[in-house]
Amino acid sequence: MTTSPIAAVILAAGSGTRMKSDLHKVLHPIAGRPMLLHLVDTVASLSPAKTVVVVGARREQVEAAVAPHGVVSAHQAEQLGTGHAVLQAEAALAGFDGDVLVLYGDVPRVTEETMRRMIARLHAPDAPSVVVLGFRPADPAAYGRVIVDGDGRIARIVEYKDASPEERTVTLCNSGLMAARSADLFALLARVGNDNAAGEYYLPDIVELAGAHARGAAVIETDAAEVAGVNSRGELAAMEAEWQHARRARAMVDGATLTAPETVWFAYDTVLGRDVLIEPNVVFGPGVSVADGVNIRAFSHIEGATIATGAEIGPYARLRPGTVVGEKAKIGNFVETKKVVLGKGAKANHLTYLGDAEVGAGANIGAGTITCNYDGFFKYKTRIGTGAFIGSNSALVAPVSVGDGAIVAAGSVLTRDVEADALALVRPDQVSKPGWAKRFRAMMAARKEAK
Ligand code: UD1
Ligand code: CA
Repeated sequence: MTTSPIAAVILAAGSGTRMKSDLHKVLHPIAGRPMLLHLVDTVASLSPAKTVVVVGARREQVEAAVAPHGVVSAHQAEQLGTGHAVLQAEAALAGFDGDVLVLYGDVPRVTEETMRRMIARLHAPDAPSVVVLGFRPADPAAYGRVIVDGDGRIARIVEYKDASPEERTVTLCNSGLMAARSADLFALLARVGNDNAAGEYYLPDIVELAGAHARGAAVIETDAAEVAGVNSRGELAAMEAEWQHARRARAMVDGATLTAPETVWFAYDTVLGRDVLIEPNVVFGPGVSVADGVNIRAFSHIEGATIATGAEIGPYARLRPGTVVGEKAKIGNFVETKKVVLGKGAKANHLTYLGDAEVGAGANIGAGTITCNYDGFFKYKTRIGTGAFIGSNSALVAPVSVGDGAIVAAGSVLTRDVEADALALVRPDQVSKPGWAKRFRAMMAARKEAK
């Protein structure tokens, strides 16, 4: 196959008005990550020499999002059409000589395999100048129609607005995605005019020009779902649903049990081991890694957490970023954690907040324990030693540490460190008055009678 270098040009200068959003359309998330970054990630698997995103309105949002990924931007000040948009990337690709993939920032689900197929078709023996990715949607609506003249060679692409009634009956549509060698692409684009119904410079016009001035154009086909675009919040939700559906299926193929798959929501980077049980209504935010044999019980919400083998989470647990759960540790119902390292076999089973804390192996955190980690200005750490026991309804006012094997009596408000194996008891002594309650009741009953 080919050894030519690859560059990608991702179009994202359209204004995306139907989203009715201050956030650029391509930055709306799918599975917790901007859709554009899904695409950038797939492109990265081709090891491109360069990736250029063409931006217009709200360019600063897009540029900030892609900069950490080594993607450069090209500015299209006025949206004069897809052909004009690709031309704006020419300067950014100066000195690049290889294959260019033209992609859309709002069509994020194209696979690496399809991208490779497009490049491979470009290098087939007939060496077409342009490869078009076509598809056959259930409703061809207003898509550009691909006019084929046999052998997978195509004569031209006609926009719906410009198409004759006969051309509109064609079911093979243009996804908009193309591949071409850089030299061919920019030479052809230089010839594209805007004498058409929209008065725009159409990228697909390079197809007809390739027939007249180069080695022609070819089409390969893919599924409609893969080249679906996002133009509205409804389409965003539909794409999220499809992404989730596919991810749930993969989780099960890889050996996780999902009791009610359609109620589980994954993030783009969720990592699951084998024999993981996920009960209904569990939500994963970004940054979660779950080892083998973990049970995640119903209605848990987990983000930024690493969960070791055999741990049990929930039901109704809330794990926030920086949570590290040790082997066979337990986080039970109505427990919230943030920046906590929980040692092997440690337990926080009920109604607890653990923030900015280290909990040693085998420690037991009683119901209603709160780490008071914040004074309104700064955050402070709580350290709980191996095998320590924190009695129910204790407030641990950080910074504070409880030594290994120490016991904190229930209801304590701890403000000083506790040494290993000590008992800390921070509450008033219990006062007991024999017979007092009985005398009280008699007195009150008499008073009521006298009224
Ligand atoms: C385009 C194709 C059409 C194809 C359809 C698939 C053209 C002329 N038509 O139609 O054949 O069936 O996609 O969805 O190419 N963009 C810019 N700058 C511009 C114009 C567009 O960056 O000046 C970007 C948009 O942000 C979007 C993409 O290009 O990501 C496609 O633009 P859009 O307006 O949706 O294309 P259509 O005219 O619908
Ligand atoms: Ca579109």
